[in-house]
Amino acid sequence: MALSSEDRKWLQEIIPDASWFDEPMARHTTLRVGGPAEVLVRPRDIGQLRSLVTGAEQRGLPGLVVGRGSNLLVRDGGIEGMVIDLSAGFRTIGFQGPPGPGGVCRVAALAGARLAALCRFAISRGLAGIEFALGIPGSVGGAIAMNAGTAAGSMADVLEAVTVLTPAGRIRRLAARSLVFGYRKLSLPPDVVSENRSEQTLILGGSLLLQPVDARELKVRARHLVQARRAAQPLKQPSAGSFFKNPPGGQSAGQLIDAAGFKGACIGGAAVSRQHANFIVNRGQATAADILGLIGRIQQRVSARFGIRLEPEVVIVGRGLRAPKKS
Ligand code: EPU
Repeated sequence: MALSSEDRKWLQEIIPDASWFDEPMARHTTLRVGGPAEVLVRPRDIGQLRSLVTGAEQRGLPGLVVGRGSNLLVRDGGIEGMVIDLSAGFRTIGFQGPPGPGGVCRVAALAGARLAALCRFAISRGLAGIEFALGIPGSVGGAIAMNAGTAAGSMADVLEAVTVLTPAGRIRRLAARSLVFGYRKLSLPPDVVSENRSEQTLILGGSLLLQPVDARELKVRARHLVQARRAAQPLKQPSAGSFFKNPPGGQSAGQLIDAAGFKGACIGGAAVSRQHANFIVNRGQATAADILGLIGRIQQRVSARFGIRLEPEVVIVGRGLRAPKKS
C-alpha cells in the first residue's frame, strides 16, 4: 500500500468529488481487465492537476497517467498509488492561431482527447496529415508518448510541439525537432527528465501542423481507411489494439503470430482474434493472468519458430495476484 490515511485526506481536499478509492482498472481499460487502483483521480483543470503532481512528488506517491486506457494491461493485483485519468478534463481540440504560409493550420489537442476525435476534427475541415491515425485507438497523450503510428505515418511526422508538465509543476513547450522519436517511443530531452526524479513527466498535449487539401478527397480516403480497418480488425470485442510491436525485418507481428498457428487460441477468457492475430481479445471473463499466459505462449513459439522476440506494444503495469496455495 502506497497510500496513507494522510494521503487520502489530502486527495479528498484537493479533488473532493473526483477521487475514487480502490477503483477497478477493468472499468478504465479497453481490455476490460485489471485489479483496483488504490486511487483514481480525474483532475478537471490545470490547477488541480498541478496540485496533484507536485503534491505526489513531495509525498513520494507513485502516479501513473492514463488517457483512454487503450494501450494498457493492468495486472490483477491492481496498482499501488495514484492513477491520474486525463480523459475528463483535458480533451479540448482547436485551432491555434491563423493559418500559416500555404494555408498550413496549427491544431492543438490536449492529452485526454481521443485520437479518433482529433482525426475527425482534421478530416472534416479538409486538413491532411493525421489520417494515418484512423487505425489506432487511444488518446492524444498516449499517442504522443508512444509515437503511435502505422506503416503510413506516425505522430512524429505531424507534431510541431509537445507540452509537458514536470513533477515540479512547470509547463514546458518542447519543439518537436528537439525531441527524439523512435519506433513507438518518445525520448524527452535530458534537461526535462533530470528535473524529474521519477521520470514521470506528464504530457499535457501537442500541436500539429496540418496541410489543407481537397476536403472531399480526404473524406473519401478516410472512409476507405476506416472500412479497411473494420474489415481487418475485431473492433467489436474488447482489446488493446495491436498487442505487439511489429518487429524489424518486414514481417508484421500479426503475420508471425498467424503463421505460428495462434488464431483462435485461448487461455481462460483471453483469445487471439481470428480476424487479426495481433489482437488479443477479452471474450468476456478474461483476467490479466489469462492474457499474460497467452502472450507468454505466443512469444515462446514465435521465438522458437522464427527466432524473433515479439515485444509488447501494450504497456503492462501493476501487481500480479499471488497464486492460490495448493492444499
Ligand atoms: N496479417 C496476417 N495475419 C493476421 C493479421 C495480419 O497475415 O492475422 C498480415 C496482413 O495481411 C498484412 C500484414 O500482416 O499483410 C500487416 O497487417 P495490418 O495491415 O493489419 O497492419 P499491422 O501492422 O498489423 C498496423 C498498426 C495498427 C493499425 C494498422 C492499420 C502496428 C503494431 N499496428 O497494424 O495499429 O490499425 O496498422 O493499418 O503498427 C494499434 O497500434 O493499436 C493499431 C491497431
